[in-house]
Amino acid sequence: MAFWEDWCRRGGCCSCDCDCDCDCDCSWKECAIWTAVVAGVAGLIVLLVFAFALVFPPKGGTDDAVLQRFALAPGTPASNSAISYNVTVTLSLRNPNLYRGISYDPVAAAFSFNGSRFDESATVPAFYHKPRKTATFHVTVGGVDKPVKLAAAGVTAFKAENATGKFDVELRLDTAMQFKGRKARCPLAVICPLELQLVDPNVATTAFQKTPCIILHAKKSGC
Ligand SMILES: *[C@@H]1O[C@H](CO)[C@@H](O)[C@H](O)[C@H]1NC(C)=O
Ligand SMILES: *[C@@H]1O[C@H](CO)[C@@H](O)[C@H](O)[C@H]1NC(C)=O
Ligand SMILES: *[C@@H]1O[C@H](CO)[C@@H](O)[C@H](O)[C@H]1NC(C)=O
Repeated sequence: MAFWEDWCRRGGCCSCDCDCDCDCDCSWKECAIWTAVVAGVAGLIVLLVFAFALVFPPKGGTDDAVLQRFALAPGTPASNSAISYNVTVTLSLRNPNLYRGISYDPVAAAFSFNGSRFDESATVPAFYHKPRKTATFHVTVGGVDKPVKLAAAGVTAFKAENATGKFDVELRLDTAMQFKGRKARCPLAVICPLELQLVDPNVATTAFQKTPCIILHAKKSGC
């Protein structure tokens, strides 16, 4: 038995009004062509919806980070502490949209340790992000004896991490973005938890594990 007859008897081409007692020879090809056409059109619609109707927020991650200095002078109370630091972070944002570019407002970068911000000085200028492209930034901050409002737990956390030379620092980027062809301005926050190994001058390079960032975006219309 030919494969299409077998397929027909199992009801495979019933949508083509195939009479299963008859010889299906003449209609299976037609049926296969229609099936292919329907699948092709459905695929095209899905592709067009993804390319033009839906918008996707960027994805982000840190590619590299260098911590040259991270020293705390604990105060009494802990909120009177002072911090000296030098940090450079390289991060990348990818625009996953097939067709839509994204315009970003100037980006504010803030670093915190144990939930207390210690640097808000860095910014990234406004830029346009082409579809399907990855944009890379370097954020460099430094300070000497800058006041930091640590919690008591922050001093404890610093002492514990100071013993290992590895510090948990969070980088947060805040901006607003606008998808090309849409009116809405969409708030966007990129939160990058970093585990930074203090550079040891006796070791040439310090390994950095690439880490994904958390993307928070408004789920309103047009965003
Ligand atoms: C601050 O450090 C304490 C002590 O290590 C820890 O329990 C707490 O979760 C930390 N808080 C934040 C916001 O990281
Ligand atoms: C660390 O930061 C301070 C303050 O911004 C700066 O003066 C110093 O040159 C930096 N040190 C290094 C090694 O980058
Ligand atoms: C952190 O560690 C360094 C050297 O490992 C030490 O000199 C410094 O006193 C420590 N700081 C605190 C606040 O414990």
